[in-house]
Parts: sequence; structure tokens; C-alpha cells
Amino acid sequence: MHKPNTNKLLITDRLLISDIDNTLLSGSIHSARNRIALTKLMNYLQSSEIAFGIATGRSIESAKQILEEWKVSLPDLWITSVGSEIHYGEEMQADLDWCEHINYQWQPELVRQAIAKLSGIKLQSTEGQRLHKISYLVDPTKSPSIREIQAHLRKHQLQVQAIYSHQEFLDILPLRASKGDAVKYCANKWNFSMANILVAGDSGNDEQMLTSGANAVVVGNYSSELEKLRGQDHIYFTEGSYAQGILEAIVHHQWL
Ligand code: GLC
Ligand code: MG
Repeated sequence: MHKPNTNKLLITDRLLISDIDNTLLSGSIHSARNRIALTKLMNYLQSSEIAFGIATGRSIESAKQILEEWKVSLPDLWITSVGSEIHYGEEMQADLDWCEHINYQWQPELVRQAIAKLSGIKLQSTEGQRLHKISYLVDPTKSPSIREIQAHLRKHQLQVQAIYSHQEFLDILPLRASKGDAVKYCANKWNFSMANILVAGDSGNDEQMLTSGANAVVVGNYSSELEKLRGQDHIYFTEGSYAQGILEAIVHHQWL
């Protein structure tokens, strides 16, 4: 594969991979507190030998837009659409091997038909739909539980990942795709040991990445579905929220 020329992935042995919404960035661009922590984090990354990756539920276009809005430097590694797409560097070069790898057993039309039979679940707008990601909005007062949804898909012989975030979003991905699988694939491809990767997240779609074996950070403002990870090996719950939490974890792991 053609190697992106501005890619720190080739020359460093440590990698920080952060979720975007409610981890790197707070809800409000006007929050001075997070702005300061974020600037500090970005300055530190730029001057360090640490490669920077993001892992987000957003599409790559939407990820780029929000990072530019917040003036965050663009990452060396883009894991987007909940791990179903991987791109590299400023050129945002797509990893087509990943695309091919996760296509295994993917039957999107059958997934849509099966989910359409359930109540309280409706498709997100077209921006939420990707080649390897079908996303829904869930009304938990009307919908079956996530376990029942998973059982329903299995009953239809659909081998997929059903990922629930913020008691509101449901993403259906191919069996082989999640933020965690994408992180492990990149570690392998770019020759990073999992012990030298720090991943940060706040909600359900980060769970596989936080339990992937990398050093994990759950930021102080995390969503309740991650409470069950407390006390697990390699998972550090920070006091601070958003970028402040990531900085705290960097200190905790003696990366400073
Ligand atoms: C982002 C995506 C959405 C997804 C959600 C949770 O908001 O835009 O499609 O459902 O993340 O992963
Ligand atoms: Mg998030």
C-alpha cells in the first residue's frame, strides 16, 4: 500500500486514540474549561513522539468538519463510523483491506428488514447510514432491550454487532467491525504493541475499544452504560471530564 508521507504512525511507537464527542470535545464549543485542556493536549501531542488517532461514531466527513470547527489538529489515524471505516493521514487515504475484511457475512438488506419488525426503533437520517453501518434512533420506553434486539438478530441468522450508546443510538455493524477491532487491526498493521496504545472514550460505542487490551481511559463525564467497566484491568476512570480526563490519564500512564 502507498504509505502516507506525513504519517507519524510510521515513526513512533506510542499512539493515543480518542473518541471525539464527549471525550475529546465537550458539547459546547464555548466551554472555556475544555478549550484550555484541549489546547494543552494538542500542543503536547504535536511536540511529542506520540501518534494521534480518533475513533468516532461520526462519518469521516463529519469528523473532519467538527475537528476543524474546534481547531483540533487532524489525526494520523481516522477510525470512523464506529470502526467500520479506517483512513490515514491528512490525505485521508482509505484502508481498503479493512473494508474488504469486515465485509464478511454482511447482509445489510436483511438487517434492515429484521429491525423493521421491532417497535421503538427508527432509521437515522441518510448521513448516519454507511456501507458497513446501519444506524437507528431508539426510544427505550418502546423498544425491546439491547439483549432482546441481539437475540432477534441471531434468530434471523444475522451475525452482526449491535452497539447501543447513550440509551439513544443503535448501530448495526458487520461481525468483524467495532472501534475495538479497528484498534487491534491498526496496532497489528502499524506495529504498535497494545501496551503502547492509550484509548479514551465515554459511551457504549467505545466499549470494545476500552476492553481491547490497550490502556484505556474512561473520562469523568462518561455515560452510564460504561459503569460495568469499573475495576477492570487496564481501565482507568478519570476525575476530570473530556480532554482534561485524557490529560490526567497521560500523566497516570507516565507518558509526559
Ligand atoms: C454518531 C453517529 C451516529 C451513531 C452514534 C453512536 O452520533 O453519527 O450515526 O449512531 O454516533 O455510535
Ligand atoms: Mg462519545
